[in-house]
Amino acid sequence: MPNDKQRDVWSAEDVVESWVWSEPISDYGTAPIMAFLRLSAGERVLDIACGGGKTTVVAAQAVGPSGHVTGVDISDGMVALAKTRIAEAGLHNVELTQGDAQVDDFPSAPFDAVLSQFGIMFFDDPIAALTNIRRQLKPGARAAFITWQPIQRMKWHPVHIIAKYLAPPNEVGTDTKEQKGSWSDAAFAKRVLSSVGFSDIQVEEYNVNAYVPAETDIPASTLVCAVEAKHRDAVLREWHKTRARLTNRSVMQLDLMMNLITAHVPQ
Ligand SMILES: C[S@@+](CC[C@H](N)C(=O)[O-])C[C@H]1O[C@@H](n2cnc3c(N)ncnc32)[C@H](O)[C@@H]1O
Repeated sequence: MPNDKQRDVWSAEDVVESWVWSEPISDYGTAPIMAFLRLSAGERVLDIACGGGKTTVVAAQAVGPSGHVTGVDISDGMVALAKTRIAEAGLHNVELTQGDAQVDDFPSAPFDAVLSQFGIMFFDDPIAALTNIRRQLKPGARAAFITWQPIQRMKWHPVHIIAKYLAPPNEVGTDTKEQKGSWSDAAFAKRVLSSVGFSDIQVEEYNVNAYVPAETDIPASTLVCAVEAKHRDAVLREWHKTRARLTNRSVMQLDLMMNLITAHVPQ
C-alpha cells in the first residue's frame, strides 16, 4: 500500500502521545493559511493531514453550522486526538476520517477550499496525491498549503544534530526523504500543482520569530528514526542541550521559516 512507512511513523504511540508538545510550532502555519482562504459561512473544506485537528477546528468555526469540514489523516491516533478536540469545541459540522489523502475518495466532496498545514510533504507520490485532491474540488476552489523552507536554514533545527550521526548518504537516502525535502523548493511545488491542473500558483516565504512554551518538543522517535541505534542517545542529549539554550524561563524562541503555497482550481 502507498504511504505505509508514513502510516507507521505517525501512528507510533510516542509520536501520537507527544504530538501536543510539537503543535505550538506547527500552529504558526494556521494564520497565513486562513488569511489566504478567507473562509465564509456555508463553505465546504477539506483539511489534508489534519493531525490533532487544530486547523480543522479553526476552519469549522469559520464556515459555521451551515458549512462543513472533512479532516483526513493517515494515523488513527491523530484522528482520535482530533475527535476529542472537535467534541471539546462542540462542533457538529466536521467529519474526521482515518485514510490516505493520496488515494481516498471523500464522500463530502466537492469542496470550496482545501488546506494542509505541514501535511503535503509526506506523500510517496506527490503527483498522484495532488491529482486525487484536485479532482475533489469545485471549479474556482482555493488551496493553501504550508510547508517548510529548506530545514537547513533554521539554525536551531535538530536536523543539524541528526546530520552529524547519519551514515553516508548512499546508505540513508531513501526516496521518501528526497521527496519530503523537495516541497521546500518553490519550483517543485509549482511544477506539481500546475501539472495536476491548479492555476494562479504562488509560493511565498513566511518567516516568524516564534515564542513557544518551554515544554515544546519534537517526538523523540521522529528525531532518531534515521540514525543507528548506537547514536540515538547522543542525538537526544544534544537536542536537549539545544532546547535549553533556546529557552528563557518559560519560553523557547525559534525562527520558523515556512512557505505558503497557494493556488486555485480554474473556473
Ligand atoms: C507534521 S504533521 C501535521 C499535522 C497537522 N496538520 C498540524 O499542523 O499539526 C503531518 C501529518 O500528516 C499525516 N499524514 C502523512 N501522510 C499522510 C497521508 N498520505 N494522508 C493523510 N495524512 C497523512 C500524519 O499522520 C501527520 O498527522
